[in-house]
Amino acid sequence: MPYRFISKEDVQGKTIVIRVDFNTNVVGGKIVPGARLREHSNTLKELASKGAKLIVLAHQGRKGDKDFISLKQHAEFVASHTSLTVKFSSWEGNIVEKIKGLHEGEILIMDNTRFNDGENEDKSAVEHSKSSWVKEIANNADFFVLDALSVAHRAHASVIGFAPLLPSYVGILLEKELNALQKLQGFKQDRVLVLGGAKPGDSIKLLGKMLEEGSVDSALIGGLFAELFWKSLGKNFGAKDSFLKEKGFIELLPQFKQLFSKYEEKISLPLDFAVEENKSRKNISIDALPTQNPTMDIGNKTIDLFKEKIAEAEAIVFNGPMGVYERELFQKGTREILTAIAESKAFSLLGGGDTETALEKLAIPAEKFSHVSLAGKALLAYLSGKELPGLIALEQ
Ligand code: 3PG
Repeated sequence: MPYRFISKEDVQGKTIVIRVDFNTNVVGGKIVPGARLREHSNTLKELASKGAKLIVLAHQGRKGDKDFISLKQHAEFVASHTSLTVKFSSWEGNIVEKIKGLHEGEILIMDNTRFNDGENEDKSAVEHSKSSWVKEIANNADFFVLDALSVAHRAHASVIGFAPLLPSYVGILLEKELNALQKLQGFKQDRVLVLGGAKPGDSIKLLGKMLEEGSVDSALIGGLFAELFWKSLGKNFGAKDSFLKEKGFIELLPQFKQLFSKYEEKISLPLDFAVEENKSRKNISIDALPTQNPTMDIGNKTIDLFKEKIAEAEAIVFNGPMGVYERELFQKGTREILTAIAESKAFSLLGGGDTETALEKLAIPAEKFSHVSLAGKALLAYLSGKELPGLIALEQ
């Protein structure tokens, strides 16, 4: 790989600016810390224990959204998780003084990078490197480290703007992600993508690209994503239809239809769905649609079909749940598919923001899979052959 790895560098006494991904669920203004916060904290702890001084950059939410908040709570989590000295700084005041005040093994977490003007603009690395806050930090640091695959698809200042100014490295967590991706690329056949979730906009494009590039051989589709495929083929979902309209998903249907007609043999859609009837779970075959009760999970026949395909796979990428696993009645699809993947002999790579939450909720240990990525969209983008700006910036 054309990268430098911070794991191999002597970092004692070095001031390192490190971009991590702390972006997490926020409920009622309070963060719900998950694997991202834990795993990036572990990288920070490892570098700090080797005597580095760390300036940490991360974002939370998007401007205008409810979860667009300060990183104060994240900093408190890192302090309690690592038991290290963790300082927190807003973007106001004398940042240089705070950096210069860092001792070996200490961490300075800067507030939400998206509070800075220009952070989110899609610019080149060189243009971003001219931002005053990027220059100010870079002038007082020795190295830049990117530790998050999950932000590598963003050409944002904190992701790519430091590379033209500082020797730049792959972080400890990102190194694990890249190793898993490299292993996956070693498989040349029977690579199955299991794709679900409720964010179909970008995913449909990425699925198309992956099939076109030949980075996967077939796709098993669940979740809302599957419903949109069936809808594009003329199925009427009854109760769910107004929801699909409300969310603006109907406009995406021509893309679904086109992709299915091109790759019909490679795409497996559900044969049935599960709905709630009299407080219990009932399977509705595709031919029995429309249904009064909204479809919430893949049905039993589909689970069996997908399990057969999983058993034959050499490599499996799972991204997004099969149904509304948050409700006990509809956990079956996601649980059985994940269990089948865990038990299969195939190399398994799980991704997607929701996946880690699903594993926790369904009590399936992450260790049962070859790799659980913390990236969602970025992972799919990588597999679809897209060049990720964050990784390009790190190339030597
Ligand atoms: C994520 O949660 O996928 C990453 O943190 C990237 O967030 P973004 O999609 O708001 O850039």
